Amino acid sequence: MQVKNAYDRLGLLAIGEIVASVLNDLAAFAQPGMTTAELDELAGSLLHAQGAEATPRKEYGFPGRLCISVNDEVVHGVPGDRVLREGDLVKLDLTADKRGYVADATRMLLLDPPDETARRLADTARRACEAAIARAVPGMLLTDLGRIIQDVAGRDGFRVVKELCGHGVGRRTHEAPEVPNYADHSNLGVLREGMVIAIEPILSAGNGLVHRLDDGWTFATADGALAGHYEEMVIIGADGAEISTARRL
Ligand code: CO
Repeated sequence: MQVKNAYDRLGLLAIGEIVASVLNDLAAFAQPGMTTAELDELAGSLLHAQGAEATPRKEYGFPGRLCISVNDEVVHGVPGDRVLREGDLVKLDLTADKRGYVADATRMLLLDPPDETARRLADTARRACEAAIARAVPGMLLTDLGRIIQDVAGRDGFRVVKELCGHGVGRRTHEAPEVPNYADHSNLGVLREGMVIAIEPILSAGNGLVHRLDDGWTFATADGALAGHYEEMVIIGADGAEISTARRL
């Protein structure tokens, strides 16, 4: 969406803060022995308590409140009876709405004892996201934004998953434009002031190829390598991007 006035901005910041705080609480609560369904239920209660609701079920019929993708699972992991184990790399991707505004963010969680590759991958995905946000200004080409992410990933020896990308957001979960994580010259998009986008590096420690599992939702790496994913929703302002999924409390 395009932010047109102060109400739009405040509405996005409000739901953005809720999403960020729920993700933070889930990360603090998660531990080996829990199932992903338990985390999902907790997400539902935490959202409900703040007057917000998860969007994937409403918009896409997704069987859960948030996507929980573990280790080689990349995105859209379905919560269920999977038990979290020591050393797991867990991606929590939460999209929720309140008063007509939608926010989307992803955090990674490393269960002790963290695998060294998982730790580096998580760090690189977060830094790639931050590097792109730091340089996002009106007039920038989306392909150049993607190149920043690709460069950070490549320097650390990781590949971006080209099949999956960031997106416009704000009124619905997925809006135009597509926000690539690599220099995609076929993407002719340009950042404009007021634009609301989700910047989300999706990285692999392997060859970067993915396939969809039999559940019809989960994407996993084709070669079984670990996948990393970090995501913030930002509003493009005249002087740069404002993160709306930051915790301000
Ligand atoms: Co997203």
